[in-house]
Amino acid sequence: MKRQLFYILATILLPFTLHAQDQPTPQWRPVYHFTAPQNWLNDPNGLIYLNGVYHLYYQHNPLENKWGHMSWGHAISKDLLHWQHLPVAIPEIVTTDTTTWIFSGSAVWDEHNSSGLGKNGKGPVVAIYTADQPKQQKESQFIAYSNDGGLTYTNYAHNPVVDIHQKDFRDPSVIWLEAQHKWLMTVAVPAEHKVQFYSSGNLKDWELISEFGNQGDTRKIWECPSLTPLYVDGNPAKKKWLLMVSSGNQEAATGMQYFIGDFDGKKFTNDNAATTQLFVDDGKTFYAAIPYNHLPDGRQTMIGWLMPFETATSPWRGQMSIPRDLSLKTTAAGIRLFQQPAAVLNTCLEQLPAAKKRTQKALTLDSKDLPLNNGQRFNNNTNWIDATFTPGTATDFGLKIAQHKNGRQVVIGYNVQRKELYINDGKEVQRVSVSPVNHQIRLQVLLDKSSVEVFVNNGEKVITTLIFPDREATGFAAFADNGHVTLNTLKVWDLSK
Ligand code: FRU
Repeated sequence: MKRQLFYILATILLPFTLHAQDQPTPQWRPVYHFTAPQNWLNDPNGLIYLNGVYHLYYQHNPLENKWGHMSWGHAISKDLLHWQHLPVAIPEIVTTDTTTWIFSGSAVWDEHNSSGLGKNGKGPVVAIYTADQPKQQKESQFIAYSNDGGLTYTNYAHNPVVDIHQKDFRDPSVIWLEAQHKWLMTVAVPAEHKVQFYSSGNLKDWELISEFGNQGDTRKIWECPSLTPLYVDGNPAKKKWLLMVSSGNQEAATGMQYFIGDFDGKKFTNDNAATTQLFVDDGKTFYAAIPYNHLPDGRQTMIGWLMPFETATSPWRGQMSIPRDLSLKTTAAGIRLFQQPAAVLNTCLEQLPAAKKRTQKALTLDSKDLPLNNGQRFNNNTNWIDATFTPGTATDFGLKIAQHKNGRQVVIGYNVQRKELYINDGKEVQRVSVSPVNHQIRLQVLLDKSSVEVFVNNGEKVITTLIFPDREATGFAAFADNGHVTLNTLKVWDLSK
């Protein structure tokens, strides 16, 4: 009888349970961070700038709001802020005996048609991706080419182009090496905590030239590597190579690490001790970032994926970070990676109407909060905030966001004694050590409904996290605890639609 009752109840309740999970969550849909129109999204893929247009391909399940049926979704933008959605560029390949999922990878413009895959003497766009074949338990590198500017792709007839007969072997990142006149592929062997470098003259035939690994953080598998040349302190006489690797996945506190060193066209040499661990972002959300190919003027800009594991959103799941400019700077600790929201985005901020911009004159806050939203303005959890503080006697200071009348809020604070920036969302505290520069702490806070990216001191450190505030939790304030702090400058842009 009990069992019967259980089945009757379960039959009645099941549809509601399923429905509850699919409840739309518009209050968490970011406005100026990229999301798929619907369904699941993970890593950015094939980031490439062509004829004034930024292409963003991404890991996408076109059929469901969960990981699976991996394909390359596609969107384009002229300013890195407003995106136009396009049809899936590379769909999964299903035959009777093989399913091929289109895993992460990159795209290049084969300007001189080295691959011979172009049409009418024009160079094709070539995508280099991992073909994941679950039935065969195999991953190898495939290429596909596009002769319509990256809209549609044809898979190369003689794939794979690189195959080491492994289950885990993925995420090829290809760049053009001008000095060697060769294509370079950086690709991960995840379980062995290493990357391999391959060289090619035609994108089809690849030769293994070296390996790098078992250094830095080896707690988790290695994925999504990339190798990027940068000038240290902007000095063309001081070129270094930035090797980024995603090495965390959901359980680790920090998802992406980086190495700085030299690359002689064949081999990467780490400048730091093998035990040195350097992290791209000190939050636990930022992952699988790769830089754009073919940006002009030596600019290097990356996009990362903000991993949405804890809370379900609907009808989409997963969002991209703000595009971030990369640079290397000399610090007391050595050469370090700095990140800033892409400079091209400043034009978008400047173009906002006056009602959506706010500038606050310098003032001193003494053991109190200064509410910053007013009426309907700056009240949408879509604020881009740029604040500079000079520490005084306050033990902690900073910003409070997503404040609810019931007291719930997210605190982005700096603790003077510990020299530590933290984000406390009421459930968990994420922190990173950082010292004032010229006696100041600058916080650039990009709040967008359910994501928060915090750049400290011009991007010397970054913490990114996801938050899921109630609809009414839109208050925000500057604060000082147990003493005073000077708020030197404060600018706020409201990016709501
Ligand atoms: C990283 C990753 C990649 C892989 C892709 C599959 O998030 O695991 O290594 O190519 O996602 O979707």
